[in-house]
Amino acid sequence: MTARIGILTVSDRASAGVYEDRGGPAVQRWLDAALCSPWTPVARIVPDERGAIEAALAHLCDTDGCAMVLTTGGTGPAARDVTPESTEAVCDRILPGFGELMRAASLRVVPTAILSRQVAGTRGSTLIVNLPGNPSAVADCLDAVFAAVPYCVDLLEGPRLETRSEVCDAFRPRGA
Ligand code: MTE
Repeated sequence: MTARIGILTVSDRASAGVYEDRGGPAVQRWLDAALCSPWTPVARIVPDERGAIEAALAHLCDTDGCAMVLTTGGTGPAARDVTPESTEAVCDRILPGFGELMRAASLRVVPTAILSRQVAGTRGSTLIVNLPGNPSAVADCLDAVFAAVPYCVDLLEGPRLETRSEVCDAFRPRGA
């Protein structure tokens, strides 16, 4: 079964074509390197608007059937940064460990890591994870948490994700 993975870029300027989307392609590159099981990206770009973000997340989960959705951008403290609250609004449950670990890992790289309000949670059988917009932050954050993602997707009864151990050593408890 091919896993569908949503990649949602949240950016006023990228969605208006003012500048090129760099976060979405960075997510795709990271996944291309890390995953060795079949997967298909479902990429979307929306402006920093709660209605647009929530509608895109709901569609990626409920209609496109994504096992996981990774968002990039809109997690900071600026007035138009609303990705975390949009994510919380569409999720059934929040997984606080993701945000905690991504900020801790990013703090080893930049002192401004604490400015990201990134969250993760589940909607039905889909895992949603927020990433900052900076392409290097995308990699730092996925490097930090992705080892736990395949087993999380198993628990949500999604497709079995397999990783290349040289990029990401996915952990499943014995017997899983
Ligand atoms: N985390 C890492 N690893 N690298 C970064 O460059 N940038 C920080 C933070 N986390 C950054 C990072 C900054 S400056 C901000 S404002 C927040 O992420 C939010 O970024 P966003 O609004 O693009 O989501």
